[in-house]
Amino acid sequence: MMCRRELGEALDARIAALCAEGWALWDSFDEAVRGHHFHPFVAADYDAVIDALIRYRGPGLRFLEWGAATGVITIAADLLGFEAYGIELESDLVATARALATRFDSGARFVAGSFLPSGYVWRSSDGDSRIGTLGIGPSAYRELGYALDDFDVVFGYPWDGELPLMVDLMSRYGRDDAILLLNHVTDGVLAYRGGRPIAAERRSAS
Ligand SMILES: C[S@@+](CC[C@H](N)C(=O)[O-])C[C@H]1O[C@@H](n2cnc3c(N)ncnc32)[C@H](O)[C@@H]1O
Repeated sequence: MMCRRELGEALDARIAALCAEGWALWDSFDEAVRGHHFHPFVAADYDAVIDALIRYRGPGLRFLEWGAATGVITIAADLLGFEAYGIELESDLVATARALATRFDSGARFVAGSFLPSGYVWRSSDGDSRIGTLGIGPSAYRELGYALDDFDVVFGYPWDGELPLMVDLMSRYGRDDAILLLNHVTDGVLAYRGGRPIAAERRSAS
């Protein structure tokens, strides 16, 4: 686990402990569930995503995780000062995420349901409307009390081939100035604003 001095010792240690618990939860889940049948939950690269959250955090910003699973990233966002929410289709995982938030004294909130807004239809550039490993269920935004354009930073971990859908979803339903962070399997954490990658802008600004 890397050390992030800029966070101060106490917060750095809390986030390190959260990630360690997150990896332990993932190991158990992998053995108990994924060892028997396919399941779309695969844990993100926590260190890389948390580094991105640190880059984009700011006072009063609202964060949403699409497919929050055990809730590690949403809880980390809360500990980093975001008003943080996670949507997850599977209610068992939502229960795990809520319990983890309680253990870390976090105000992160989790809602069971789909992060796809009601009425959203995906059409790729070649007309393919399949949505990969993403599940179907009632949209969670009503229960959340916020629409997608109420969020300043949104995070998702798409499976191979699902990234264009997530960029499309954010472009059509998110705010133009909001940041979309996507954990890409091979390229690390990618950042988008208004449907366009902003990695180059970050690099030249630093
Ligand atoms: C690749 S995992 C990512 C887990 C977590 N975000 C992370 O990065 O560690 C995708 C998660 O999305 C959930 N999921 C799939 N389709 C969904 C949908 N339509 N709405 C909400 N969650 C969904 C799955 O159950 C799974 O937990």
